Amino acid sequence: MTEGVVLEGRGLVKRFGRTVALDGVDLAVRGGEAVAIMGPSGSGKSTLLHCLAGIMRPDAGEVTLLGRRVDGMRERERSALRRSRFGFVFQFGQLLPELPAEENVALPLMLGGVPRARAVQQARTWFGPLGLGGMEGQRPGELSGGQAQRVAIARALVTGPSVVFADEPTGALDQATGHDTMHTLVTAAAHNGASLVVVTHDPQVARWCHRVVEVRDGRLLPGHTPSPEFSGGGAR
Ligand SMILES: Nc1ncnc2c1ncn2[C@@H]1O[C@H](COP(=O)(O)OP(=O)(O)OP(=O)(O)O)[C@@H](O)[C@H]1O
Ligand SMILES: [Mg+2]
Repeated sequence: MTEGVVLEGRGLVKRFGRTVALDGVDLAVRGGEAVAIMGPSGSGKSTLLHCLAGIMRPDAGEVTLLGRRVDGMRERERSALRRSRFGFVFQFGQLLPELPAEENVALPLMLGGVPRARAVQQARTWFGPLGLGGMEGQRPGELSGGQAQRVAIARALVTGPSVVFADEPTGALDQATGHDTMHTLVTAAAHNGASLVVVTHDPQVARWCHRVVEVRDGRLLPGHTPSPEFSGGGAR
């Protein structure tokens, strides 16, 4: 394992029928590092993220988290690992509409065995810092798109994950709100010592990440990978 590397994909290949979605991708993510994944529609960004996050099994290659093979695990084990070590922020539709915001945030803790009252108490501590003070009891339908994504960010970070994965988390928001939300995501991940792997179409987001990798036809463009010098510390 390369020093400081938390998550590493090597030689990742994924096919869907005759489509080669990933064609041999190597990507190493260091502790606390924020990596933006960019590239045209259909280039393989989501597939790469899903393979790295243990949501999808690559056809070839390997994924290791802190030196531990993820790709070979049984679904049950991978799912436990996702719950304990990873956080996720997707574009939309990820909050449970019938639960108040604070319970949405508390959910990953409860799934991990934390008693409800304590989980909710812990969840509440995230609202102020993320600019959501007073929204604890709102249902997702009563939140704006940007607020809902902040709740999703809190939910992704509440368990203290090693890596947060985000797939176009601001794609459904207007530009200003999108930038705001993305900045919150990058800063909150850095604050909590989590690495971040974020798929985005927004070139501006690169400003807040340590590194950008470009995907074309299932491969990473040269010059971006593997991990260049990274001194650690928070995002700019
Ligand atoms: N479940 C699937 N079944 C069949 N083909 C798939 C599946 N998922 C992805 N693909 C194909 O694999 C390729 C890569 O898809 P992927 O979703 O990774 O692209 P992407 O870069 O995330 O695109 P976008 O920016 O539009 O989200 C595409 O050609 C896509 O059609
Ligand atoms: Mg995608």
